[in-house]
Amino acid sequence: MADAGTAPVPSAPAPASDDVLRVEHIAKRFGPVTALQDVSLHLKKGEVLGLLGDNGAGKSTLIKIISGFQKPDSGRMFLDGQPYEPKSVDDARAKGIDTVYQDLALIDELSVYHNMFLRRERVLRPVPLLNNREMKREARRALDSIGINIPRIDVAVARLSGGQRQAIAVARTVNSASDIILLDEPLAAMGVKEGAQILDLVARLKEEGNVSIIMILHNYVQVFEACDRVNMIQEGRIALDKPTSETSVEEITNIVVDEYRRAREEEHANNAHGEHEPPSAEPPQQS
Ligand SMILES: Nc1ncnc2c1ncn2[C@@H]1O[C@H](COP(=O)(O)OP(=O)(O)OP(=O)(O)O)[C@@H](O)[C@H]1O
Ligand SMILES: [Mg+2]
Repeated sequence: MADAGTAPVPSAPAPASDDVLRVEHIAKRFGPVTALQDVSLHLKKGEVLGLLGDNGAGKSTLIKIISGFQKPDSGRMFLDGQPYEPKSVDDARAKGIDTVYQDLALIDELSVYHNMFLRRERVLRPVPLLNNREMKREARRALDSIGINIPRIDVAVARLSGGQRQAIAVARTVNSASDIILLDEPLAAMGVKEGAQILDLVARLKEEGNVSIIMILHNYVQVFEACDRVNMIQEGRIALDKPTSETSVEEITNIVVDEYRRAREEEHANNAHGEHEPPSAEPPQQS
């Protein structure tokens, strides 16, 4: 493991730590593609961890595995020190892990407030009817608390902009009373102001200290603003694990540029071979 930090990265679980989540030696392949080779990471209570890596590095795959959407080929996970093997997204949610996926998973035909309460609808008792009035009121309060402008919450989300849809997905998750929140590029479709509002919200959650967050961001400035620690995925592994206070935009940029150069050189070397040799059926092995 190319750990650039001073402390060694432990390969076995440290007992009695304050980690709410531990992921150990997770691997995931899709046919010939190895999305994750051997990923280990941990998340402390109240911590905001930034997950970085190029397009296709495996970030979303890791989020999907933690959130119960996909199963790893190998590896183990622990939640509050107990073995954690989510059977589904609902199972993970019941165990306190909630997710905003990169592709959002809103239902276009449903209203804003019904989407906000998707799969945790409020029902009236004793007759099990949807408590629309309460859901509307709570949805409005949740969106107002973020400060995102969504004029009407009874329209279908199909009529909203990308940024508004993203705000709904984020609001839904942060209001779910989860212990762990996974945010896969939550700011991607947002304007500067809306993105700042979501980061304010993350900062507020961090201050309260009850929720732990893993967040995928591509903008390094936002990473340094929002996160306590960063992990970078490269070649299916965690190539860097440092508190944001001990690294910099320059260091992270250099790691990415170095990897790009290495890949280019390998590509050149392979092309040069290819002029004289029949093409190999196997993709080049990274060493
Ligand atoms: N369901 C799938 N079937 C086949 N291949 C997949 C599947 N999901 C992901 N992959 C592949 O696994 C690799 C990692 O994808 P992943 O979506 O995790 O990357 P990412 O780091 O989230 O990238 P981005 O920054 O572009 O969102 C990619 O090569 C991708 O094509
Ligand atoms: Mg992704």
